[in-house]
Parts: sequence; structure tokens; C-alpha cells
Amino acid sequence: MSRFWSPVVHGLSPYVPGEQPKLDNLIKLNTNENPYPPSPHVPVAIAAAADRLRLYPDPGATSLRETIAAYYDVAADQVFVGNGSDEVLAHAFQGLLKHDAPLLFPDITYSFFPVWSQLYGIRHETIPLDAAMRVEIADYRRPCGAIILPNPNAPTGIALPREAIAQLVTEHPDQLVVIDEAYVDFGAESAVPLVAHHDNLLVVQTLSKSRALAGLRVGFAIGQRPLIEALERVKDSFNSYPLGGLAIAGAVAAIKDDAWFAETRARIMASREKLARGLTALGFEVLPSAANFVFARHPRHSGADLAARLRRHGVIVRHFAKPRIADFLRITVGTEEQCERLIEMAASLI
Ligand SMILES: Cc1ncc(COP(=O)(O)O)c(C=O)c1O
Repeated sequence: MSRFWSPVVHGLSPYVPGEQPKLDNLIKLNTNENPYPPSPHVPVAIAAAADRLRLYPDPGATSLRETIAAYYDVAADQVFVGNGSDEVLAHAFQGLLKHDAPLLFPDITYSFFPVWSQLYGIRHETIPLDAAMRVEIADYRRPCGAIILPNPNAPTGIALPREAIAQLVTEHPDQLVVIDEAYVDFGAESAVPLVAHHDNLLVVQTLSKSRALAGLRVGFAIGQRPLIEALERVKDSFNSYPLGGLAIAGAVAAIKDDAWFAETRARIMASREKLARGLTALGFEVLPSAANFVFARHPRHSGADLAARLRRHGVIVRHFAKPRIADFLRITVGTEEQCERLIEMAASLI
């Protein structure tokens, strides 16, 4: 607290990111990072771009937008890029999701959504997940200003099929629907092909997870031109150069290396299935995940207690002390060895 704070700062409850521990020997399964390195082309491209550090980067990050556009078969001016998808989402909250009617999102979802709502003074209502922790599209049939959903949802990992997203955008022709696809590459269907047919759909993705570039901070949105223009207007009223030249070069190289992408995501999905089977065999209830993490609870152990005991044994997972999910652990899919270690450790603790 300080007398220099503006009233808005007094009222904030900032997002708390997962722990980034200083100790090296911990098995870190708490922030959904990729356990494998990015494409080997990424450091080469970054080293080459270092020659141009004297200059400001391209404010429009044209090469990156063109690379993403070619990958998704959309026009480059339908792509917006930012400093992590968190920044892209924040701009969407400010520029597209603030209306008189409330913004809708699930009661259990990405915990940054209420934080941005508070920061930008956006009235919102949460829609409960059903008893199986699924998003029910029918529950969103109510007056609203806009809707935002992660797909797969976080932290449940449960995905909706593309058809359900199509139904949602069709049922709300006058409201914007933002789909946060941070984890889509691990087995869900992207809504990007729907963008051509729906002017009320914005899809947001990140290179932090499936492209293993959490440290580079690159995210993007795909939507029809007026939506992208809104994001550009916010960006150019905030920071014209959100992506440095190194980030642009590294991101382009990552997206172009399809073979690396395919191999590492396939490994992660195979490990996820093995991890889910192992936890189930130990008596855990594991929600069906299409992400690079599983959300699991044990009928005889509290989530907080299990997380604390795993931590003492050198394994960090994420626990949310929140209604409905306090008994769950969110466990990032690590390498094959890390997953085996987690199973051994859990077996010894339950
Ligand atoms: C659902 C969801 N959306 C967006 C993000 C933000 O990702 P980034 O800012 O690294 O692109 C995360 C990060 O964990 C997430 O879980």
C-alpha cells in the first residue's frame, strides 16, 4: 500500500503464476511447460537475428504473421501477434470483451480471466461446469456481452469438439466468442477453420506449450479483419513493439519445423496416456485430458496435502485452493522418466 497508488491498483487481485523454483534437482510439473527443447532451428535463427539488435523490430512482426497465416491458411492481416498469449488475451479483454451486458466464462477456468475483468472493469458472470467438469454450451444461452472459453479448458484439460464451438458462435451471432487454444495442439480440434464463416469468433494460441517457447513469450490471435484491427488499435496505444526481433525470428523458425513439432507433441500425448493409466491404477480419478497436463484427485487424500508431500519429495505439481477443485492436482506431462518418477512417488505417498 502506498499513497502513490491509483485507486485501480488498490482494487487489484493479481494473477499468481506457478512457482519457478531456484533449485535444479526438482521435477517441475507445475506450469505446463514442454519437457522437450524447442526446434533446434530456433537458437540458430535467434543467433542470426542478434546481428540486428541495434534496430527496433518490425512493429507489425510481418514475417511471423505471414508464417502463422501460411500454417493456418488464413490471410496475414487476419493474424495478430503479441508478447505471450496472455498479452493477446489482455488486449482482447480491453478492446473486445467489455460491454454493458456481462462477459461469460466458466466457473472453473484460466484464473487470469477474472483478473483481467477486474483490471479493465468488465462485468462478468461465471457459468458452472457440469458435474463431470465439462463446459455445457447450452448453459451459455443467456443474455451476455461476450463469451470466453479455453479449449481444452484449463485446468480440467477437457476439450469440446469443433462442432460445439461452431454451435456456440452460431447461437450468439451478435456476441464475440473468444476461444483460448493454449493447449489445442495436444489432441483437440482448433476452431481456426471456423473463422472464415464467423465474424464473431477470435481464436488465441500460444507458442509457450506445444512449441516449447514459454521463455520467448509469443502468442497470437486469428480472426476476421475488424477483430484484428481492434487488437492492433489497443497494441498501438500501449506498446508498438511487443515482440523483439529475437522472439520474431525464433517463433518463425519454430512454426516452420513441422517435423519437430509432430514428434514432440506425439511423445507428450503418449506420455499423458501412460501417466493417466498409472494414476488411475493407483486409485486416482483422472479427467479425460486433451492437453499437456492431467487433472486428478484421489478419493482418500486432500489435494493440498498430496501436493505438499510431493513437493517435499522433489516433485512440484499445481494445486488450486478453490471451491470444487481443491482436491485436484494439475500435473504437467513431463518426459517419460519424469512421469514414471511421479507415479513411483505418488504410489509411495498414498
Ligand atoms: C489457458 C491458458 N491460456 C493462456 C495461457 C498463457 O500462455 P502464454 O502467455 O505463455 O502464451 C496459459 C498459460 O499457462 C493458459 O493456461
